[in-house]
Amino acid sequence: MNPEYRLKDPSQVFSPGLLFYKTLIARNIKALIARVGDPSRLRPHVKTHKTRQIVRMEREAGITKQKCATIAEAEMLGQCEVPDVLLAYPMVGPNCARFAQLVKKYPGTKYSVIADHALGIQQLSDAMRNAGVSAEVFLDVDVGQHRTGIAAGPAARQLYEQLARSSGLKPGGFHVYDGHNHQHPIEERKAAVEKMLAPVLELRDTLTKSGLSVPRLVVGGTPTFPVFATLEIAGAECSPGTCVLNDFNYGTWFQDMGEFAHAALLLTRVISRPTATRVTFDLGYKAVASDPPAGKRCVLLDVKGDHVLQNEEHLVVEMPDAERFQPGDVAYALPAHVCPTSAMHQFAYIVENNQVVDRWDIASRDRVLTI
Ligand SMILES: Cc1ncc(COP(=O)(O)O)c(C=O)c1O
Repeated sequence: MNPEYRLKDPSQVFSPGLLFYKTLIARNIKALIARVGDPSRLRPHVKTHKTRQIVRMEREAGITKQKCATIAEAEMLGQCEVPDVLLAYPMVGPNCARFAQLVKKYPGTKYSVIADHALGIQQLSDAMRNAGVSAEVFLDVDVGQHRTGIAAGPAARQLYEQLARSSGLKPGGFHVYDGHNHQHPIEERKAAVEKMLAPVLELRDTLTKSGLSVPRLVVGGTPTFPVFATLEIAGAECSPGTCVLNDFNYGTWFQDMGEFAHAALLLTRVISRPTATRVTFDLGYKAVASDPPAGKRCVLLDVKGDHVLQNEEHLVVEMPDAERFQPGDVAYALPAHVCPTSAMHQFAYIVENNQVVDRWDIASRDRVLTI
């Protein structure tokens, strides 16, 4: 285990506890900027950490734009006075009025949002008009994940034209998220990006020729960040999230991003040794994300064994040398997927020089702040 991770005095950490390593986070923010060369080409996604303090660290490093997925994250970013925030989630139902309220309540932040359907655009336009506010809307272009968005083509063109006609809304460009591009070799990710971009750029050309402005393209997550970072696309802003904390899965899959450090761990303790070959830790799936398959949700550092059972608050590990563990012993776990993991914790213990120096609230893990 990297000696930077070990706490001199773990007794002050309640387990299971989320640990954020501030120096490593700062290193990752620097690495992000080094890849794109200019912080104005970055719009990191806040969902990975959901903390005010990392937003401020990014701001101090020159990053003025953020992306988010929930109204609570968007509000936290408004409270942090981030100048430019994209809520990359379609607004429907009462969320349209909540978005309008955000725009009204945080005038120091220029909010934008995404849309992919005529009805959603209509509802949002009505809410904005009722509140007497306006905002830019990015057309959500489906480039292959088929989660949200509309494929580049004539119907997408019509939606963009609808945006331009809708009161309270202004077309701001395209949202181009390729969450399906997880190819491990960088050459394969590069080829996938080039292929998916062709129709997007064609749509942009068509709209521009018809007199509509498509000023910005918000592109990608972490896996294709190294590709987008090298492309010269006018108005492109890269929106990786995970690499600020960098989890086990991404660190293993995308080895071309070796400069990013694992900056978040979990501290866990042995709670039982039920058999001669079993050790049970207080690290259930209410403390570490369970979207990776059972048995592969975290890596216990310096602990070899099979994760044979995980319940809400228990992780049972089968190993031949179980007798080396006693109840109360501390271990450190690297989450396979950090973003949902951080959202399970009320706060993160902040570690510097092997000591806990602070606690940061995972402030926008809640669904509602004030709006
Ligand atoms: C719309 C959108 N943008 C950006 C990101 C960040 O991607 P990553 O987690 O690969 O950094 C995500 C992640 O889920 C996302 O959904």
